[in-house]
Amino acid sequence: MKKIAVLLSGRGSNFVSIKKKIDEGAIKGEIVAVISNKADSKGLEFAREQGLEAIFVNPKEFDGREAYDRELVRILKEKGVELVCLAGFMRIISPYFVSEFRNRILNIHPSLLPSFKGLDAQKQAFEYGVKFAGCTVHFVDEEMDHGNIILQAVVPVLQDDDDHTLAERILKEEHRIYPEAVALFCEDRLKVEGRKVFVI
Ligand code: GAR
Repeated sequence: MKKIAVLLSGRGSNFVSIKKKIDEGAIKGEIVAVISNKADSKGLEFAREQGLEAIFVNPKEFDGREAYDRELVRILKEKGVELVCLAGFMRIISPYFVSEFRNRILNIHPSLLPSFKGLDAQKQAFEYGVKFAGCTVHFVDEEMDHGNIILQAVVPVLQDDDDHTLAERILKEEHRIYPEAVALFCEDRLKVEGRKVFVI
């Protein structure tokens, strides 16, 4: 059983999808901490309801990004965390954090990377006029939305979509591929070679 921490900032639907697969026995892991930078995030509330350890770490109490991340790393190490899942964690991770958990931090991003990095990726794709959009699970490195790609899923953009209907279609796929990537990690089935990640 790998020890997993989930970091989130908002509603936490990706966290819910991972928790569900753990409860079904499809992921050989256990969530030992759910951490948020927002006290009122729905995801933290859900964690508490589930009896999981839910921790709010207030950015205002720290002097800058690295000081904040040092506190996160301290908590993660104290709990023996082996895998960190960013699930709508809307903060950029410092190089210090990345170096402490190299190839052990996963993120889900709602676009087919390397297209449409950053905020509102679904809206960026919609407004660009692409015919296919999607989502990506990747390892986190020092650059935003840049680390090695683990899994991607593609959805069509339909004529009568708006950015919200497109985001909903993408989210369904996020809820499918994120737990799948976590399951692969927990079974030691991800092999990193340069930019590539192989499923073994
Ligand atoms: C998800 O769509 C996720 O892909 C996105 O935030 C949403 C969080 O939803 N993440 C990013 O844009 C990261 N750059 P959730 O809180 O319901 O999981």
